Amino acid sequence: MSLEFDGACVVVTGGGHGIGRALAERFAAEGAKVVVADIHAPRAEKVAQRIGGLAVPGDVASPEAMISLVARAVDAFGPVRVFCSNAGITGGFGLESTPAQIDEVTRVNLLSHVWAAQAVVPAMVAHGGGHLVQTLSSAALITGPAPMGYTFTKHGALGFAEWIQLAYGDRGIKVTCLCPNLVNTGMIGRNEDDEEAGTISALPEGLGDVVEPEDCAEQTLAAMRAGRFLVLPHPQVGKSFRRKGENYDLWIDHTAQRLRALRPGDNP
Ligand SMILES: NC(=O)c1ccc[n+]([C@@H]2O[C@H](COP(=O)([O-])OP(=O)(O)OC[C@H]3O[C@@H](n4cnc5c(N)ncnc54)[C@H](O)[C@@H]3O)[C@@H](O)[C@H]2O)c1
Repeated sequence: MSLEFDGACVVVTGGGHGIGRALAERFAAEGAKVVVADIHAPRAEKVAQRIGGLAVPGDVASPEAMISLVARAVDAFGPVRVFCSNAGITGGFGLESTPAQIDEVTRVNLLSHVWAAQAVVPAMVAHGGGHLVQTLSSAALITGPAPMGYTFTKHGALGFAEWIQLAYGDRGIKVTCLCPNLVNTGMIGRNEDDEEAGTISALPEGLGDVVEPEDCAEQTLAAMRAGRFLVLPHPQVGKSFRRKGENYDLWIDHTAQRLRALRPGDNP
């Protein structure tokens, strides 16, 4: 199927801020008809208005809301050609995370990808194909300083993305997974609702480079056009992933040392 997006119906969840906002703008610039879905209604409205898209407020954690989002997208712009399952949260921190935090992060970061695929893939297959873009994280490939729930949900979401690609690839479904390390968005303190409020909050040293959401969007479209599964805006993530595959035990030892160095209490 054509990888020109002019006139295509594209849905972006978490499209009101950060990487989702940049993806929505990038697809709109290509001529796509973009549905901006976000739990934060004013953000969805603001971005949709700016790009001439449709705002659909809703929670990706709910399978019913996902079905209704897709129905509204199809009503407005026709069959969904690209679904960007992008919304995500950090959710809790370590083992002390509450059951409610663990439930929420699992629903938003993992199950939302399943609800999205259930809602769009059968119709994509019937229309000759479609593309699922999953915003995951470097934490899907390599465990690092990210919180517990974030880490296991992103790993699980990568497994789901591989499964969908393998099960539906021969029926015209392409999957592209965006796996960045740090990006200049709400997750690290940027506030696009009020840019005067400042951008990045102070980050601990040693976490690596911060890339812009626009770079992520640009590289995602390039990967889609090249038919690539993985998008790695931080090349060192790919290197670490290869090291892990070559020698898991050595990689665990090195990572443990690196994480200890990031914990101020362990460095008198
Ligand atoms: N920023 C980073 O450093 C970074 C790194 C790797 C991966 N990611 C991933 O990028 C994705 C986008 O995050 P971001 O960095 O742009 O953060 P962000 O906070 O700037 O934007 C996230 C958007 O998702 C929306 N959202 C949150 N929960 C939702 C829900 N349940 N339903 C619908 N919308 C919801 C928020 O309202 C917000 O507009 C996430 O999946 C995140 O895990 C971010």
